[in-house]
Amino acid sequence: MVDFTNKVVAITGGTDGIGKALVDLFLQQGARVATCGRNHDKLYQLQRLYINMPLHVVSADVSKESECYAFIKSVIETFGTVDILINNAGVSMRAMFKDLDLATIRTLMDVNFWGSVYCTKMALPEIIKNKGTVVGISSVAGFRGLPGRTGYSASKFALHGFLESLRTEIMNEGVNVMWVCPGFTSTNIRNAALNKDARPQGESPMDEEKMMTPEECAHHITKAIKNRDRMLVLTTTGRSTLFMSKFFPSWADKLIRKFYFKNNELVK
Ligand SMILES: NC(=O)c1ccc[n+]([C@@H]2O[C@H](COP(=O)([O-])OP(=O)(O)OC[C@H]3O[C@@H](n4cnc5c(N)ncnc54)[C@H](OP(=O)(O)O)[C@@H]3O)[C@@H](O)[C@H]2O)c1
Repeated sequence: MVDFTNKVVAITGGTDGIGKALVDLFLQQGARVATCGRNHDKLYQLQRLYINMPLHVVSADVSKESECYAFIKSVIETFGTVDILINNAGVSMRAMFKDLDLATIRTLMDVNFWGSVYCTKMALPEIIKNKGTVVGISSVAGFRGLPGRTGYSASKFALHGFLESLRTEIMNEGVNVMWVCPGFTSTNIRNAALNKDARPQGESPMDEEKMMTPEECAHHITKAIKNRDRMLVLTTTGRSTLFMSKFFPSWADKLIRKFYFKNNELVK
């Protein structure tokens, strides 16, 4: 089991949702935490919330290679190293591929996939030195293509492939590479999800009250990191989707279609 006291944890996208809950939980457990995001107000609020705590906040857009490198460089300059990297920053989408401006898919690949690749590349030498952990916050959409989310699923499938390859490459160096698939979690992700024109939707089509809280999600993630797990699939729906997709893929197609469509229209 990993003790987080004084460990250096870098979390991308820690100003909202699951990332913010992770920042809070790691600080509570004695870690030194660094995070990044694009919105300066949210970064400033976060810094104020945890004043006098070992929190380092950086403005960085993970879709830009140079900003990822600057983020990780500044974590190393501030805390001396990186033990755990959590590639959490992410954007979703809701639009049918036939209607889509390809800019939507490009943005999702840049943030969800390339953002994780850039940060991992930069932090890896320190993580190998410390026999630490690389985490990717993926999704059920990373092992099962979901309608209205072609770019999101593509980016998360790519993330899975990248992390699984890396895991196998460096498993004998004492590094744990893992991926987490949260189920529906009540965050800003559906509001910020891109529409067919690559602009934020500005609303959620789902009942956010009935979802897992980001705090509960963060609790499960920290536990899985401590246990050095390989993969974490949260929620019963997530686990049954994995099972159905593996053993009854055509049946899964029908059930998933039924969940996301009404009268032949994408409604979720
Ligand atoms: N919530 C769910 O139902 C759910 C389910 C499955 C998987 N996930 C995954 O969980 C992760 C966290 O999502 P969430 O639900 O917590 O979403 P969220 O509430 O929208 O938070 C996303 C965070 O990422 C940051 N971010 C977005 N784009 C960024 C960029 N280009 N550069 C740097 N930071 C960026 C945001 O800050 P700024 O906007 O200020 O940059 C924010 O802090 C994502 O990878 C998502 O795919 C979520």
